[in-house]
Amino acid sequence: MPFLFDYNPILVPLLFCMKNQTRKIIRRDFLKTSALMIAGATTGANAIVAASQSTSQKPAIIAPPLLDLNSLARFVDPLPIPNVIRPSGKRPSPENASQEVSYYRLSMQEMKSKVHRDIPLTRTWGFAGSSPGPTLETDSGKGVLVEWLNELPKQHLFPIDHTVHGADADKPDVRVAIHLHGAKVPPASDGYPEDWRVPGNSALYYYPNQQDAAALWYHDHALGITRLNVYAGLFGMFMIRDAFERALNLPDGKHEIPLMLYDRSFDRNGQFFYPVSGDPQSPWVSEVFGDGALVNGKLFPFLEVEPRKYRFRLLNASNARFFHLALSNGMEFQQIGTDLGLLPLPVPMRALLIAPGERADLVVDFSGHRGEEIVLTSDSLAIMQFRVGRAAVTDTSSLPPSLRPVSRISEDSSVKNRILTLGEKDQMTGLAQMMLLNNAHWDMPITEDPKLDSVEIWSLLNFTDDSHPIHLHGVRLQILDRRSFEPELYYHGGKIQYIGPVQPPAPNEAGWKDTVQAHPGMVTRIITKFDGYPGRYVWHCHILEHEDNEMMRPYEVVSAQ
Ligand code: C2O
Ligand code: CU
Ligand code: CU
Repeated sequence: MPFLFDYNPILVPLLFCMKNQTRKIIRRDFLKTSALMIAGATTGANAIVAASQSTSQKPAIIAPPLLDLNSLARFVDPLPIPNVIRPSGKRPSPENASQEVSYYRLSMQEMKSKVHRDIPLTRTWGFAGSSPGPTLETDSGKGVLVEWLNELPKQHLFPIDHTVHGADADKPDVRVAIHLHGAKVPPASDGYPEDWRVPGNSALYYYPNQQDAAALWYHDHALGITRLNVYAGLFGMFMIRDAFERALNLPDGKHEIPLMLYDRSFDRNGQFFYPVSGDPQSPWVSEVFGDGALVNGKLFPFLEVEPRKYRFRLLNASNARFFHLALSNGMEFQQIGTDLGLLPLPVPMRALLIAPGERADLVVDFSGHRGEEIVLTSDSLAIMQFRVGRAAVTDTSSLPPSLRPVSRISEDSSVKNRILTLGEKDQMTGLAQMMLLNNAHWDMPITEDPKLDSVEIWSLLNFTDDSHPIHLHGVRLQILDRRSFEPELYYHGGKIQYIGPVQPPAPNEAGWKDTVQAHPGMVTRIITKFDGYPGRYVWHCHILEHEDNEMMRPYEVVSAQ
């Protein structure tokens, strides 16, 4: 892949996101990001990083000595499977008081987690006693009520940057707003970033689940500290099932396994390490890459599998890392679903690029691999191991050649084509890059205001050297195409000059999505029908460091009348 992801931290461009001119100057001079990427990516025991690239007088960046994850024994802990949590009871439906819906009460707490046999207990945040949290499951069309209760301590695990939007020093350090990613919900239950709760308080949200079977996930979304809350462990999965999917007879029960992948670094005491800049006033860093990947709460886990088909529900829950997944024996697997449901056909793959926020529904057939040990890798990173049993088993599950039809939204039905820029140059100086959506800050007036039930095309023009996973709340979208363009011409005259061929979405992206990889130097066109609920939502980059520092905008679905 021509993109710069995991292993070239130095090459990760210096992207800055700033609130005001003063801050711009500080950040630009300091070039702290490049040094931090070194800190964040160091696997060596002594990550003492001097701000060698800095041209300013700012303090050098000293990272504490990190745990060398390469020295750990691999594949000594079994993969944990998150519990499917039972409802705490029934409550009248907010939609129809004569009906009852399941009611869940999930409390967020600090806990100590065993992430690896040889690492002492790690302080984490999670839900209902587990970090990441348990899985919720429901049927399509069956609404559920969830009370998200903040029982976290008043002090955060990580340093807060009070200069990023919404995290001002007068705000409490510990605040949470739980969002159900992928859900079509009324705005009051969407976990709007400003709708946060402090310890001792809860939010009661209603999820109607009027949508197809899919793997959704819940995670914190509090304004200005989402990256820290999610890094601490505030996320989990939420499965919607339906009759159509059941009728396909895909692998299920113990043969259907969620895999939440997320990278972390650790200090020498086995605690999560979240890097900070050398500037104590603004510890924010532009992207964080951990030294190793956890799966469902463990580092380097193993999973004993039978020689048969399995269905894996993958989630990339990393802050910034794109995983480039493959199996060590080079074997093929099938992708059967995207973020928001099944693909029309299984797509045979040997490698999968999955961005933060995205999900992939995979079927892996181990039947021809009895006795093998197969490692799931992301480039040079080992993630987990599958140990295939020797004894033959009967597999009565199916992988049908056609799955669920996905009708393409017609471009002709679109009533608006919005041109939206990602990280346009600083208009003041033309020098620094900024991570902004359409050159606007979080607190500027609404500009994206689609009408309820209307179809729109959003053209995302990426002016940065990074891929940004762009996510819209409340809707399901389709990728129309991607095409290289000439950024300078657009910048100096607003003209989109294409310089490459139209690239249709890859076969494994040609389904219902809620997060789209907008690649550098390209126009990525998406189409969506705003057929949920009227009201205020957000759209943003799912690299959480970007999202927390202005790469997020409110948008408003306007009712027709
Ligand atoms: Cu996964 Cu706005 O979130
Ligand atoms: Cu979302
Ligand atoms: Cu981004």
